[in-house]
Amino acid sequence: MSEPLKIAIAGLGTVGTGTVKLIQDNLNVLAQRTGREISIVAVSARSRKNRDFDMSSMTYYDDAVDMAENCDADVVMELIGGSEGIAKEVVEVSIAKGRHVITANKALLAHHGTELAKLAEEAGVALAYEAAVAGGIPVIKGLREGLAANSFDLVYGILNGTCNFILTNMRETGRDFDEVLTEAQELGYAEADPSFDVDGVDAAHKLSLLSSVSFGTEVDFDAVYIEGIRNISALDIVNAEELGYRIKLLGIARKTEHGIDQRVHPCMVAKDQPIASVEGVLNAVVCNGNHVGTTMFEGAGAGGGPTASAVVADLVDIARGTILPTFGVPANALAKPIAQPVEKREGSYYLRLQVEDRPGVIADISNILKDEDISVKSLIQHESNPGKSVPLVITTQATVETAMNRSLEKISQLDCVLEKPNMIRIVSL
Ligand SMILES: NC(=O)c1ccc[n+]([C@@H]2O[C@H](COP(=O)([O-])OP(=O)(O)OC[C@H]3O[C@@H](n4cnc5c(N)ncnc54)[C@H](OP(=O)(O)O)[C@@H]3O)[C@@H](O)[C@H]2O)c1
Repeated sequence: MSEPLKIAIAGLGTVGTGTVKLIQDNLNVLAQRTGREISIVAVSARSRKNRDFDMSSMTYYDDAVDMAENCDADVVMELIGGSEGIAKEVVEVSIAKGRHVITANKALLAHHGTELAKLAEEAGVALAYEAAVAGGIPVIKGLREGLAANSFDLVYGILNGTCNFILTNMRETGRDFDEVLTEAQELGYAEADPSFDVDGVDAAHKLSLLSSVSFGTEVDFDAVYIEGIRNISALDIVNAEELGYRIKLLGIARKTEHGIDQRVHPCMVAKDQPIASVEGVLNAVVCNGNHVGTTMFEGAGAGGGPTASAVVADLVDIARGTILPTFGVPANALAKPIAQPVEKREGSYYLRLQVEDRPGVIADISNILKDEDISVKSLIQHESNPGKSVPLVITTQATVETAMNRSLEKISQLDCVLEKPNMIRIVSL
């Protein structure tokens, strides 16, 4: 057997504790697979409370940066979270001390991934982050190693389990967003402050990393267009079903002739697409490789066990001596990404309007769409309530997004339109 591999863990919450337990449970299997013993020599958290595991053989540090600087570990796991502050310092100090780093922190890498990858490569250490994207699904390894022979033009996925749980539950129960969000919070699927999840930011963090690995470009989180699921109503979900779609919050990164298009927003996806059937808290990632074709990964995107599984997979690589470029190509060779301009985005749209039920309303709306060269594909008005407010649903043929936005602006100003219209993009993938 080679020398034991010594590790230090910063952060003992859901992921940190899950990781300690996994390592303690699977010590023999891990030793067999790596030819080395794995030993947790140091841990750090914010408070010295009792944890759900025996810490007696580990040195406890009150300050995680002090641990990164002074512990006797070969590998530091940053399992604290946050894009700035302590998490970033722990990673930087660990790298500077020549320690390998494993993190589950997508926020940190979305904002500082390129610069940290450069530091790690200069120091000759790993910066590994399988757990940061889609939790337990080995999608970074899948793209960077398993599918390394391919080039990609498209990668997309359900990257946030909280949103997928909420949308699935809304469909199954017919309830509205707020009610289902409260239940998700009670069940522990959503944070007390759910904004990072439901506003699409968490999915955007992960998408920016997937995009970098898929296209060999620097991480470009600022270029991701982000829209969350707060505006999706129970009626939208019913309408989607009637039109043959499911509503999913997707992260989509596409390489186009105009640049890279990265976006996170609710999508109407045809029910027969495999991703439409990924329900509940599950995550999924689909990529198009130019030789392998379409490949889909599906599984648990969060939780102590699944996330620890990904963290320890990175640890096994390091123990075996497998150190790979963070984003699949050496950090200095990552291309500068060019973002596709918004006016080049094309697709079909679903519009839900609340209108006054009177003659001429449909003609007024159709004229605005006609002026922007937008063809209507379908129009649904189930209720008839003369002089009163009724829902009107329109789907369009493919058009550029700027034309759709201009039309929506004008439609909103019509007297007969009684509420702000809701627009959902219909995606064909
Ligand atoms: N939870 C998931 O399913 C999941 C999935 C994928 C990725 N992630 C990522 O994994 C990371 C950790 O998430 P988590 O869910 O495990 O978070 P968590 O349960 O809130 O745990 C965070 C841990 O960090 C510790 N901490 C906070 N500030 C600290 C400081 N200044 N110094 C040292 N330790 C500090 C906390 O200490 P105390 O315990 O003393 O408060 C806690 O142990 C995040 O980057 C998250 O995005 C999580």
